[in-house]
Amino acid sequence: MSRLSTAYRCEACGAEAPRWAGRCPECGAWNTLIEETRVTKAHARSAAKAAHPAGHPADVQMLDEVEGDREERHATGLGELDRVLGGGFVPGSVVLVGGDPGIGKSTLLLQAGAYLARQEPVIYVSGEESPLQVASRSRRLGLDCPHLSLVAETHLETIIPVIQKASPRMVVIDSIQTVYSDRVESAPGSVTQLRESTAALVRLAKTTGSALFIIGHVTKEGAIAGPRVLEHLVDTVLYFENDLGSRYRIIRSVKNRYGAANETGIFLMAENGLREVRNPSAIFLSSRLEGVSGSAVTVTREGNRPLLVEVQALVDDAQSMPPRRITVGTDSTRLSLLLAIFNRHSGQSVAGRDVFVNVVGGLRINETAVDLPVLLAVWSSLTDRPLPKDLVAFGEVGLNGEIRPVFGGEERLRESVKHGFKKGLVPRGNVARQGHEAAGDLRVVTRLTECLQAVEDWLQDASA
Ligand code: TYD
Ligand code: MG
Repeated sequence: MSRLSTAYRCEACGAEAPRWAGRCPECGAWNTLIEETRVTKAHARSAAKAAHPAGHPADVQMLDEVEGDREERHATGLGELDRVLGGGFVPGSVVLVGGDPGIGKSTLLLQAGAYLARQEPVIYVSGEESPLQVASRSRRLGLDCPHLSLVAETHLETIIPVIQKASPRMVVIDSIQTVYSDRVESAPGSVTQLRESTAALVRLAKTTGSALFIIGHVTKEGAIAGPRVLEHLVDTVLYFENDLGSRYRIIRSVKNRYGAANETGIFLMAENGLREVRNPSAIFLSSRLEGVSGSAVTVTREGNRPLLVEVQALVDDAQSMPPRRITVGTDSTRLSLLLAIFNRHSGQSVAGRDVFVNVVGGLRINETAVDLPVLLAVWSSLTDRPLPKDLVAFGEVGLNGEIRPVFGGEERLRESVKHGFKKGLVPRGNVARQGHEAAGDLRVVTRLTECLQAVEDWLQDASA
């Protein structure tokens, strides 16, 4: 009855191939196909039949009648982490925490584990670092955690009974790439090992009720046996992001069965570990110089919350031809497009000049709301005139020089007002129908020329 078949799987991209080849037909990587035994469909059907013999239909209940309270939640001691988890973690849930090596995954989960371990048992499984290394980090962070157990082990079948016996509140697996199972022949860190170990850990979490945090490194190419291939197996997927050069760390939920996706938490990597950034707008603007040209303030959205950031531009005589157009933190193709719009519709031109754009703080803005502030900063640098210091602007700029509305206008305005911005350039579609609660001087704009005119007016008023 039980028929197993052999297939080949690429360790790089996870694609399946019916026969071995030197090069993966899917991603083109060399020597990455490995043999994998697989249950045939017929076998899977007979196994399913055995589990659910005919004559026993599944239980059906009405949605409205499903009983039970809201899920139980546990705080991690880090409000920003709780926030991305959807208000703390749920017992029995499995959370995958991905990110580049060195971004702070171990630090984050050691801090969260230590907080919990003041009250309840927590197990930290470290395959990356020795117990001494983990302990010395914990001392350096000044953590006090009487109920935190360390397990320096990578063999899955040895780890599982430890967790079953202790039934801790929380388990950290650092990292899934070091874990290997006897049931799979391929090497630790391979796609098959990663999948098999994670699936076993998910079953363990569901049966013990311990919450599992699985750390996964994102490898350089982004896809090589990284956390991506595990996303569908777990309840929640968090990615830790940002440049290692920047001290800020953003943790983002890309999937969450227990909360909103695309929620973000912001941290700062300090000497003594990760510190929450509760008021990110204030931090990102804190080192802004006022009265300098080439600087504009915008409100972007990091996940579901508005965030004030500074966008800088530097326009200089070209040092070479063609001129350079370089952007850090925004889309580079879009910069060329925006500069073409600028040349056509602003009455000014950056032809024959180098243009550099930078988003302060190492942030990346992936939305078109940054179009208008980018062009304002470019204008300001080109003309060497500082923008009004209490001006905030956002909006998409179209090819015809029109200003288009963006998502979440109301919230963006509220955030600007909260931080003392009194002047605003706002797309028409973003202004509420029944008046506006935002105080100050708000200009509703539909064209790029109007924006520049409004800026001129403000600057004239200020000098008058
Ligand atoms: P780590 O948590 O080990 O990263 P990951 O587990 O994602 O690989 O963090 C590594 C970096 O963080 C390391 O380069 C040093 C820095 N760091 C601090 O700046 N302050 C601290 O308190 C700690 C513990 C680490
Ligand atoms: Mg680590």
